[in-house]
Amino acid sequence: MEKAIIGGTGVYDVGEETYIKMVNTEYGEVQVEVVKVKGEEIVFLPRHGKGHSVPPHLINYRANMKALSELGVKYIYATVAVGSMNENYVPGDIVVISDFIDFTKSRPMTFYEGGKEGVIHTDMSDPYCKNLRNVFYSMAKRENVPIKGEGVYVCTEGPRFETASEIKMYRKLGGDVVGMTNVPEVVLAKELGMCYQAVGIISNWCTGVEPTGITIHDIAGAMEGKKELVTNLFINALLEELNQENCTCNSSLIKL
Ligand code: HPA
Repeated sequence: MEKAIIGGTGVYDVGEETYIKMVNTEYGEVQVEVVKVKGEEIVFLPRHGKGHSVPPHLINYRANMKALSELGVKYIYATVAVGSMNENYVPGDIVVISDFIDFTKSRPMTFYEGGKEGVIHTDMSDPYCKNLRNVFYSMAKRENVPIKGEGVYVCTEGPRFETASEIKMYRKLGGDVVGMTNVPEVVLAKELGMCYQAVGIISNWCTGVEPTGITIHDIAGAMEGKKELVTNLFINALLEELNQENCTCNSSLIKL
């Protein structure tokens, strides 16, 4: 099983579930669903667990990503619900994530902790997979799904939302959208040599950005109708011929 979809907030299935699989990893057990589409098995992993039971700072990211790797997954698309601090990106818009800025504080960040393996660093020139990104764009074009643009994702620790001053600072630093989960997920994918691309659905204006009312309280509502569009594009993209020849995802480790 080479292909997977990670579902973020609001995305708890991608069509007919075919069967459930438990994967035992050294970091813990992970439950995934396997969905069969046009003869291909696609793994679906709800990031927060079924029914959204695990908060962002307590997600076992290493177990999740190791489980996908152990299943043989090489290509991952992920949805992320994000707040917008870029006035061009309004609730309901679809934004492709192109880079991240990490403000998490207390999460296990890596599989490489010295010892026998030595000291290993990971190149972050292209944290997201260029190839999966291009395939996603061509599917969106083919299916006439409007993509609003690309954005830099600021990852906060959560589970609290940001203060207005924090958002002001993140904007100055070059952030477009804010979420609580993409780091370390994207980093761990790279450490395991897997291609990973996240696509954001704007669920609210960030704190202090939209002065006429806090839409944070209707995150699910803002995403309604968009999540199926995005997951259908993921499925279409994953049904294409994919390879790792046009990206650096499986050659990004630097051993000193
Ligand atoms: N901040 C952080 N995480 C989020 C937000 C936000 O405004 N919206 C959805 N996830």
